[in-house]
Amino acid sequence: NKPLYILAIETSCDETSVAIVENGTIIKANIVSSQIETHERFGGVVPELASRKHVESITWIIEEALEKSGVAPSELSAIAVTQGPGLIGALLVGVVAAKALAYALELPLIAVHHIAGHIYANQLVHELQYPLVSLVVSGGHTELVYIESEGNFKIIGQTRDDAAGEAYDKVARALKLPYPGGPYIDRLAQEAGEALALPRAWLESDSYDFSFSGLKSAVLSALNQANMKGQPLDPGSVAKGFQASVVEVLVEKALRAVKAYGAKQLLLAGGVAANQGLRQQLAVRCAEANVPLLTPPLGLCTDNAAMIGAAAYLKFQRGQFSSLDFKAEPLLSL
Ligand code: KG4
Ligand code: ZN
Repeated sequence: NKPLYILAIETSCDETSVAIVENGTIIKANIVSSQIETHERFGGVVPELASRKHVESITWIIEEALEKSGVAPSELSAIAVTQGPGLIGALLVGVVAAKALAYALELPLIAVHHIAGHIYANQLVHELQYPLVSLVVSGGHTELVYIESEGNFKIIGQTRDDAAGEAYDKVARALKLPYPGGPYIDRLAQEAGEALALPRAWLESDSYDFSFSGLKSAVLSALNQANMKGQPLDPGSVAKGFQASVVEVLVEKALRAVKAYGAKQLLLAGGVAANQGLRQQLAVRCAEANVPLLTPPLGLCTDNAAMIGAAAYLKFQRGQFSSLDFKAEPLLSL
């Protein structure tokens, strides 16, 4: 049995990444080139700069991934790429590169949804059992997804305003922490003593939706008021209070969804899945409720192409290929 190698490309936001994945589970190479240095002085991703950086990097990253994997282009079975959602100019660079490779090497093309990629990052290390519920938390998304069977997604709840990661980054900015601020808040929260008391947005009692903009405003106004009194707040207590509020709502709603949908597993996905507070709290609550919890390894939480390769392998097995004229879709739905 010959191994099946997929070359996968991810350029939906500010990471240029190329991976070679064997049989959907073995990562032969996963090169991630972050553009943080380009964007950090602007406090967020500048779309036009992101596109240009992807153009500069994509060719050598493809070459480096192939070289590192030891897999020859002639051994590849398919080319996969993130179709959306994401920044259109950024997505286009990956999509055009993937089409060129597929055309030149006469290989099938597989278009992958970015969130399916985050979800199936878990497939690289875990055995999935359906039906399951996935809590997807990233810089652009906060969703509870019911997955009845492989590739069969239903969004049962989502954020009505900011994504969880976006709220982390905005609060971090108010605390004058570097961009992206999620990991810095996480660390501060772990080390802090007392937590600032902040509200939780539960919304309607039966809703699986989220809202983080009120919490963000509460943090900003608490910071301002304290500054005006000349008694600035301790950043650690702000970080700890903010994280406690975000984590509590995410964990409660995820567990309620698992129960209501009779899910066999709870699967964590997305950049914020790297959050230690969230991982710890979910582990405790899932153990209590006897719910198997799957989390991706830390290095596969934030954007990377290996997760796109993992999701593409499932589509390959189902024969779901795309033609050379498929389009990048910035608002692609799951
Ligand atoms: O999935 P991702 O790489 O990009 C999107 O698809 O959006 O997620 C990036 C987001 C950023 O907002 C970043 O601050 C957040 O994930 N993040 C974290 C942590 N690590 C990354 N947020 C909280 N705690 C962390 N440890
Ligand atoms: Zn992402």
